[in-house]
Amino acid sequence: MKIVESIADIRAALAPHRGARSIGLVPTMGAFHAGHVSLMRASRAENDMAVVSLFVNPSQFAAGEDLDRYPRDPARDAAVAAEEGVDLLFAPAAAEIYPAGFQTWVEVERLGRGLEGDARPGHFRGVATVCLKLFSIVRPDRAYFGLKDAQQAAVVDRLVRDLALELELRVLPTVRDADGLALSSRNAYLSAGERAAALALPRALAAGLEAYEDGGDPVEAAAAVLAGEPGAAADYVDTLALNGATVLAAAIRVGETRLIDNVVLEGDTP
Ligand code: PAJ
Repeated sequence: MKIVESIADIRAALAPHRGARSIGLVPTMGAFHAGHVSLMRASRAENDMAVVSLFVNPSQFAAGEDLDRYPRDPARDAAVAAEEGVDLLFAPAAAEIYPAGFQTWVEVERLGRGLEGDARPGHFRGVATVCLKLFSIVRPDRAYFGLKDAQQAAVVDRLVRDLALELELRVLPTVRDADGLALSSRNAYLSAGERAAALALPRALAAGLEAYEDGGDPVEAAAAVLAGEPGAAADYVDTLALNGATVLAAAIRVGETRLIDNVVLEGDTP
């Protein structure tokens, strides 16, 4: 596996393969876990060249969020990616992506508002902009995203359609720990007690899905489970239309940590 840090170097590394070999891209912010690995494996299986980007994107963090303490372990990440057969790991510095004078932003308007968009102003503008820039640098045939961040997947799906980007968006199921907690780089922040409280999140979503299947109100059922967990504070519980699908999504705070998760109530995800 080759590690490249500049746009010029990744373009040079990909140039001999363009056209002849398909390229898969998995955009990430590192601190790899089994969720990231599932995307790498799909990309590896479905393409000739597997590219992973590792960039903790400052523009998608609002002021006061966890940009500075976001888990970073580039050596371990490189070892994991190499083990998974990744061909190229693109790990640029912030100045490579946002050079002096940078002022071009992409806004996915309606889908970028509500839920995470309300809770984290500017978040999806940062996500959409960095994804478009990564797509423009790598020019992948396929790009891989997790359903764990369902609204993000919907925003990127809209971006790809609206700007007629020539790539296939692949959205893969959420990978969970045995206890039901969705894998997230931010789980590393949790103490043992906080982790126990965080399990209210998948429990609440499961209760919401069950209520929905029984003809009840999924938001009410999920909110009731969260209200019963003193260690977790609900940020929001709501349904979200994702192209053809309806998702029940929630965000909670456990101590200093903010976690999100969702379940599909019905329909096909992007
Ligand atoms: P990051 O949080 O590192 O996630 C990278 C990709 O892994 C995303 O598509 C995310 O949805 C997926 N993912 C995370 N947890 C998962 C899980 N438990 N199961 C399956 N997939 C999972 O999301 C980002 O980075 C950034 O916003 C990014 C798209 C890289 C733009 O900066």
